Amino acid sequence: MTMPSATIRLQTPDDQQALLCLNECAFGPGRFARTAYRVRERAARDPLLNFCMELDGEIVGALDLTPISVGGVPGALLLGPLIVSGDHQSNGLGLRLMLYGLKQAKDLGYRLVILVGDLPYYVRAGFRPIPLGRMELPGPVDPARLLYAELVPGALEEYSGLIRGMRELSDLGQSAPALAEDAA
Ligand SMILES: CC(C)(COP(=O)(O)OP(=O)(O)OC[C@H]1O[C@@H](n2cnc3c(N)ncnc32)[C@H](O)[C@@H]1OP(=O)(O)O)[C@@H](O)C(=O)NCCC(=O)NCCS
Repeated sequence: MTMPSATIRLQTPDDQQALLCLNECAFGPGRFARTAYRVRERAARDPLLNFCMELDGEIVGALDLTPISVGGVPGALLLGPLIVSGDHQSNGLGLRLMLYGLKQAKDLGYRLVILVGDLPYYVRAGFRPIPLGRMELPGPVDPARLLYAELVPGALEEYSGLIRGMRELSDLGQSAPALAEDAA
């Protein structure tokens, strides 16, 4: 069943408390120890790629896409967290939010999206396992959960090596190739 009345919009500073609650409920304090969190905490946020989903005035879902470089090459994104509140799960909202985010990212010129997550869920949005050894995160991760989706056909071939958050956005994601790499 779908919920057509749910709307997707960009996050604003006023949403932060609601988003914090959503995160806390979904992942608890353990989220800070996740390797993907470590990449995100050092990265600049692209305000055009942080979304929330509203239903009857309540935030029921959220999705962040964080600019990263892989082996020093910019133009890629780390997807996550993707969250739908417990009361509204299994209504297609997560997939809808994710497909919306991927479309926006593609329109902004990004080329590749990676994530750490369960293949049986993300395969629905076209994600596949990254070939073993091709990329690494700055921390432990189950290689079977390291997934990618190409926004531009063949983009995976351009990316290999260490995944890092971008420290600066030169043009808020409009010109992905001009992003500066996280030098830390
Ligand atoms: C994962 C999540 C975003 C999915 O949101 P959702 O709105 O329920 O997703 P959809 O309605 O698009 O899809 C629901 C389907 O995905 C399945 N699914 C959900 N999480 C899954 C997972 N980790 N692995 C495999 N299947 C999963 C559900 O069982 C359901 O299956 P069905 O269609 O056969 O009933 C939501 O469950 C959530 O917020 N979970 C907690 C946070 C989390 O783990 N986020 C992902 C990691 S960043």
